[in-house]
Amino acid sequence: MTRAVRFPRGVLAAVSMLFVSAPVLYTQQAPAPAAPHDAAYYAFRNATTQPPPHPDTPVFKLSDDYPHSPPHPLSEKCPAAECPWLYVDVNFDPTFPKDGKSIESPKWHGQNWDVYLQDILNYVKEGQTSDLNNTDGWRIEVNHHTRWYNVPWMAYDSTAGREYVHGTTNERTAQLAELIGPEHSPHALLTMAGESDACKTKYPWGFESWSVGYYNEYGGYVLGRSIPATGVPQMSEYLGTPVPAGLPFPQGTVVVKILTSSVPPECVPYLAGSPAWQIDRHAYSQAHGYACEREVQISHVVQMDVAVTDSRSPIGWVYGTFAYDGAVPGTTFWDHLVPVGLQWGSDPWTFPAVPRGSSLPLQQSVLNDDIQTFQHLGCMGRLAGPVDNPQSSCTSCHASAYAMPRGAITTMGTNAPPSFGFSGMCEEYSQENANYFQNQEAPQGFPGGLFPGVVTMDTSLQLAVAFTQYGQFNTDHHPARCVDPNQITPPAPREAALARGRE
Ligand code: HEC
Repeated sequence: MTRAVRFPRGVLAAVSMLFVSAPVLYTQQAPAPAAPHDAAYYAFRNATTQPPPHPDTPVFKLSDDYPHSPPHPLSEKCPAAECPWLYVDVNFDPTFPKDGKSIESPKWHGQNWDVYLQDILNYVKEGQTSDLNNTDGWRIEVNHHTRWYNVPWMAYDSTAGREYVHGTTNERTAQLAELIGPEHSPHALLTMAGESDACKTKYPWGFESWSVGYYNEYGGYVLGRSIPATGVPQMSEYLGTPVPAGLPFPQGTVVVKILTSSVPPECVPYLAGSPAWQIDRHAYSQAHGYACEREVQISHVVQMDVAVTDSRSPIGWVYGTFAYDGAVPGTTFWDHLVPVGLQWGSDPWTFPAVPRGSSLPLQQSVLNDDIQTFQHLGCMGRLAGPVDNPQSSCTSCHASAYAMPRGAITTMGTNAPPSFGFSGMCEEYSQENANYFQNQEAPQGFPGGLFPGVVTMDTSLQLAVAFTQYGQFNTDHHPARCVDPNQITPPAPREAALARGRE
């Protein structure tokens, strides 16, 4: 196996100086490099691949005309008419066992959590089509004003970068297979909650999920400050700590993410009738799985994630998710979008952040117990969505959003937290699990002190992607060649992993 070796830039400079003093070594001339593009080009291009000259699909345009000021002064709280969820009476405080009495987890109904998520949904669906159809996709304008903005730099990566139809990026979580090794094949990542056994056999390579995220004006204002028109990420200080300029995200920030899956609806009955989007995704063959080459194919919208800032939350954020369910009554897409739950922390008092014997019932996840059609749980019942890794959870993965500043290379698990997992994730009480299932709030560092160089992205993994991509650009000056997705993950067809599971 060959591996690219990366030298620190100083080393390369020193090596090339040696060559300059010994010109006789230049016997083999390298071909002249193609004209280089600058950071702004890569940061703000619409997609990794270009649409054909006469596309018969929608064509994605990056929403990057970021507002120069927030909709309301940041000294004022987002008004109730705009951000009603911030005014919903919910209790973010954990309770602990006292006087031998046991404690209970939060309840979906009766404690206003259902109201909280419904208020966010009402805001998010404003101005969208009733069927979230392929032609309109996600509309960025609401009442003639741009409400929704994208994160730059996500069209840099040749393998997983934005495609041109809806601007989605691929989430085959490559790093996981590398980090935890083939014997722990993360096949669960590529399956769908509720997938039939027949489909597991029929689709041995699993399914790809492609998704696209949008920030509202409060978030867009911050994005424009942290990554200005030059495309070069900027830093500033918050509470004496280096942070990307404009961070943390102010109250009023809302982020929405639409997730699609290549799974055919006949494999997961609850997807019947879900929006069918054209996605320019990796070509698939039964024999070889997914390839670099891209092809416009149908995917279905399976999940919609939201995240909002709320100063009452111990991490400054609340994460929520919805799943499509064709079985519930209703005529519009939104009628079929079932709330799954909310999470405002990673429950550091619950296994695997503590030993099993001292584990408490969950206090920072609340799940909609009306759902019966499919399983949707993360580690020990923490919140995760149908296409998410069931050994993680929304806030634990997002709490690991850190990246190297100033154009340095970010490598998850080496100089940055292992967002996608590590050996033993959710399996045993360990320092790694305690760090991963922990609560910190920007500008605090990642728990455990193992990654001193990184800076907080205030839970934004898209911003972490942007910083990471800029670091690669700053080092290599051009995107790495696409790696056939099946070369990255899964290391073996899912069949093999399933067989191992049966042994
Ligand atoms: C194992 C890791 C992981 C888990 C678990 C996870 N996410 Fe994410 N999420 C990501 C990554 C990586 C991105 C950025 C890449 C992208 O959007 O394509 C992201 C992006 C997002 C975004 C866009 C804003 C941002 O932070 O970049 C939202 C909102 C979001 N996720 C919500 C959720 C919710 C809600 C859940 C739980 C139901 C969840 N996520 C679970 C990895 C995770």
